[in-house]
Amino acid sequence: MNFREIEFGSEKFRQECELRNQILRVPLGLSLDDQDLTDERDQMHFGLFDGDSLVACVIAAPLSATEVKLRQMAVAATVQGTGCGNAIIRCLEEHLLKRGFIHISLNARMSAVGFYGKLGYSTIGVEFIEVGIPHVKMQKNLGQADSV
Ligand SMILES: CC(C)(COP(=O)(O)OP(=O)(O)OC[C@H]1O[C@@H](n2cnc3c(N)ncnc32)[C@H](O)[C@@H]1OP(=O)(O)O)[C@@H](O)C(=O)NCCC(=O)NCCS
Repeated sequence: MNFREIEFGSEKFRQECELRNQILRVPLGLSLDDQDLTDERDQMHFGLFDGDSLVACVIAAPLSATEVKLRQMAVAATVQGTGCGNAIIRCLEEHLLKRGFIHISLNARMSAVGFYGKLGYSTIGVEFIEVGIPHVKMQKNLGQADSV
């Protein structure tokens, strides 16, 4: 498996959008095609590849020079539960730390809180609804003893 950054608008970005659509949108009766993705040009896109095939993706949107918000985390249905989600987040954290980002936040689907919890993310605040389903904010500071 290879962890790589994905260039906005590239062929790999098209694969990323297809994976996000299948895993995050279609099950909710939504489509990524209805969304304007222009803002994502300034965000960092990452993928975990098996050869040329994209198996997991995630976006890191910079909030400041040291903070990012993770978005659109998705693992292909055929490989969920085999460690790909864990692998892409671990690679991403290492990459972000090298680029000076130390504070990570995200809005986690309640169904995925246990996944992020195992990676050292903590919940903050109360549950809220986003894209019609319950979420909670989670965060992690990189470079601390429990995260390296
Ligand atoms: C949630 C998701 C990202 C997890 O990725 P994954 O590749 O399936 O997870 P991994 O196989 O890397 O699991 C890593 C660990 O987390 C656990 N885990 C995985 N999914 C979990 C979940 N939904 N709830 C609780 N624990 C979970 C695994 O059991 C494993 O534990 P272990 O290290 O003790 O064996 C993936 O299943 C997915 O894309 N789901 C659908 C979309 C989604 O919910 N995205 C997140 C939106 S916030």
